Amino acid sequence: MKRLTEFDQLADPTFSQAVIDWQRSHGRHTLPWQNTTDAYRIWLSEIMLQQTQVAAVLGYYARFLERFPTVQALAEAPSEDVMAHWSGLGYYTRARNLHACAKRVVQDYGGVFPSDPALLAELPGIGRSTAAAIAAFSSGARAAIMDGNVKRVFARVFGIDQYPGEKRVEDALWRRAEALLPQQGIESYTQGLMDLGATLCTRSRPDCPRCPLQDRCVAYASGRTAELPVRKPKKATPEKRAAMLVVIDRGQVLLEQRPGTGIWGGLLSLPEVDGHVGMEADVASSLEVAAAAAQFGTVEEVQPLTRLVHVFTHYKLHIAPWQVTLAARGGATGRHLWWDLHAVKDAPLPAPVKKLLAQLAQPGLF
Ligand code: ADE
Ligand code: SF4
Repeated sequence: MKRLTEFDQLADPTFSQAVIDWQRSHGRHTLPWQNTTDAYRIWLSEIMLQQTQVAAVLGYYARFLERFPTVQALAEAPSEDVMAHWSGLGYYTRARNLHACAKRVVQDYGGVFPSDPALLAELPGIGRSTAAAIAAFSSGARAAIMDGNVKRVFARVFGIDQYPGEKRVEDALWRRAEALLPQQGIESYTQGLMDLGATLCTRSRPDCPRCPLQDRCVAYASGRTAELPVRKPKKATPEKRAAMLVVIDRGQVLLEQRPGTGIWGGLLSLPEVDGHVGMEADVASSLEVAAAAAQFGTVEEVQPLTRLVHVFTHYKLHIAPWQVTLAARGGATGRHLWWDLHAVKDAPLPAPVKKLLAQLAQPGLF
């Protein structure tokens, strides 16, 4: 038996037919960049639509074309003029690339956009998907698009349960998109995928009852439209460690002024031992902690206290507090001061440090 290639396994002409039929009867047909094969107008619309919704683009598109009716007019315009007509659309790199692209088309291609998607994709601001859309709409090239909307539709229809932003998954989506291209009707197919993603298969409320792909949709069949596409996996929150010295002497605790900037900037806190020193409750750590505490006086004893974890928005801080008993206080340094333990609730301390000291300040403990 002949083995099928991956491409043959992915191919399914009924998929594109369903999209094409639906586009022709239910898709959008009167958008201002449709019903033309003028690559300049199509290119402009695709760039504007890259990160902006149709409704927001319409006015800009009309004003832009009125001021810059041809790629030559755009190429020759001063950049401030181009930027002024983009002002409000956002993502201004698009406008700078747009202007650079117009100049390249005039210089390198005599003002005529190439029809080969591979050549289009080498121009500023035109990625693989945008190149395919421009080529399909302006010259009927059989090229696959893969933007955010198409990723969503594919992830749902084919039940792709891996994050589509991951290179390996995205590559597989592209191969699938290539295999599913129709032999005829690339314009309706391409527009149909865009229309499906924008009007039916929306992020939060897909209208599955009206969808032409419902009978083959894995997400619909398995009730997973809310789970697909898989969201970007959250990075594990980084964890940091700090050993803190709890130097208590005659009812007072030694506090340290934090630097003005950074975490806990401007607050008082407990002195910390550099790096990971003192994070273990062993003999070596005791010696390191005692050495660090020696600047505050003659150290009699050091003892590990119960650890605590403080969760910040961007990381987790593991605090290993060490109680230090002094035989005698040393000379005070500028950044350090002694604070009455019973008044510790009035000190400008970070919450976890205040909590730690409040526990130690309970009557009867010292
Ligand atoms: N988004 C990107 N390209 C589009 C197009 N041609 N029509 C509607 N929305 C789009
Ligand atoms: Fe999207 Fe629903 Fe259609 Fe599946 S059936 S492609 S989830 S709209």
